[in-house]
Amino acid sequence: MIEFNNVYKRFGETMAADGITIGFPAGQISVLIGPSGCGKTTLMKMINRLEDPDSGTVSINGSPVSDRDPVELRRSIGYAIQEVGLFPHYSIFENIALVPRLLKWPEHRIKDRVMELLDLVTLDESYVQRYPAELSGGERQRVGLARALAADPDILLMDEPFGAIDPINRSTIHNTFLGIQEELRKTIVFVTHDMQEAVKLGDAVAILNAGQILQFDTPEQILSNPESDFVAELLGKDRRIQILSLKKNSEYASMDGVVTLPESQSSPENAKIALNSAGETIAFLVSETGALTGRYYLDGDRVVRDAKPLHLDRKMDLRETLSMMLETGERLLPVTGKSRTLIGVIRLEKLVEEVASL
Ligand SMILES: Nc1ncnc2c1ncn2[C@@H]1O[C@H](COP(=O)(O)OP(=O)(O)OP(=O)(O)O)[C@@H](O)[C@H]1O
Ligand SMILES: [Mg+2]
Repeated sequence: MIEFNNVYKRFGETMAADGITIGFPAGQISVLIGPSGCGKTTLMKMINRLEDPDSGTVSINGSPVSDRDPVELRRSIGYAIQEVGLFPHYSIFENIALVPRLLKWPEHRIKDRVMELLDLVTLDESYVQRYPAELSGGERQRVGLARALAADPDILLMDEPFGAIDPINRSTIHNTFLGIQEELRKTIVFVTHDMQEAVKLGDAVAILNAGQILQFDTPEQILSNPESDFVAELLGKDRRIQILSLKKNSEYASMDGVVTLPESQSSPENAKIALNSAGETIAFLVSETGALTGRYYLDGDRVVRDAKPLHLDRKMDLRETLSMMLETGERLLPVTGKSRTLIGVIRLEKLVEEVASL
């Protein structure tokens, strides 16, 4: 647990922290969001003593950080930021090995750790001898994440770490990051400008303005009950659609009314009978193990077989699903789990009803 108690920090006329009292729970991702200059980076830097408060206390697990040696403290906390990033003249290996080296780990342990981390951030071994300039922006950010995790710190401070990545790669790195967190359960403070990112990654989101915390709540609460006009405005007009990004396909998929046919007895005739009696237009073919292997759909009076139907991963969120439906024109899509097991379907009308009811 990281706690701020009545913390003030002024730079000249600017109040970067104006009476901050907040607690970031252990093992969770707490996101800070707010306009440029509102004090997000300063708040984060007071945790690893890159800045010290003018008054008030910052403590980790009940001990004030002001009692800790700043250098030792910084080595015990992972730090990932957008701009400074990696050292250009160090190879990827040397970049990731930085903190373990400073901590004087034995060489073989460092080597194992670097390999383990590359694997964790889904980069293969061929990357170790390369230099940052030879990597894409998204790959560099993965290395930045690996470096922050290198010495296995309990706390990770991340200041817009994925800011420079395009939306498609950002979505991939978000999923990698959430997968890692599911396993490691670090205490993470994460700064972003992007509300969609805040809502997707945060267990809780803190809205800051002019050195003050306006609201600190779960993404659901923030989106559904913004405490002030300022917060509502920051959330933007598509607030309702954003709520969809909080729900996973797996929680929402349903087998209600779904027509399935065992692969072994599938024929266009059977499909047509089953569809007509259920009043549906799509039937899914499933193998003995429950895997999705195809579909039949009605096209006017004809039944068409489709051996490679589009399907949604159970971990995708409803916002991604909605955009995929709008892009492809599909009104009903199957959701699959491990080994392509059919776990249910999502219907466009239901999603639209969901948005309208929020
Ligand atoms: N070392 C410093 N000296 C003087 N002023 C500073 C210093 N560090 C921060 N400030 C000021 O304090 C305020 C808060 O800065 P901070 O970097 O915390 O903002 P931020 O919320 O991270 O902004 P951004 O979203 O642009 O990164 C700003 O007005 C900034 O100019
Ligand atoms: Mg900042």
